[in-house]
Amino acid sequence: MDSHQRGRLTVRLTDTGDSFACHPEENVLCGMERLGYRGIPVGCRGGGCGVCKVQVLAGDYVVRKMSRACVSAAEEALGVVLACKLFPRSDLTLTVVGKMRKGLGCGAVAVDGQCRSG
Ligand code: FES
Repeated sequence: MDSHQRGRLTVRLTDTGDSFACHPEENVLCGMERLGYRGIPVGCRGGGCGVCKVQVLAGDYVVRKMSRACVSAAEEALGVVLACKLFPRSDLTLTVVGKMRKGLGCGAVAVDGQCRSG
């Protein structure tokens, strides 16, 4: 396996059953956008608007600076993060909890702070 292949990780969305490849130095929002869903809201891409909120259900990751107005410390402890600031360190399993749910055809938008899986 060459280093390029080794750096390629798989991110799975429980809401839609989709999977996509993501490199450790690429944020997960970029990978999601490659799925080609129309209606994925394009937010600030800077961790400040909260439209790309997801909850990591499984896997290792790092996050860069996120606005506390979007993700509280309590939410972050539960794996709730912003996809535009999320970088995988292993394969990940995610559920979408922000406004992207609508763009992905997941139905109603979850209320902030009431993250649910399943
Ligand atoms: S796009 Fe605004 S917080 Fe991710």
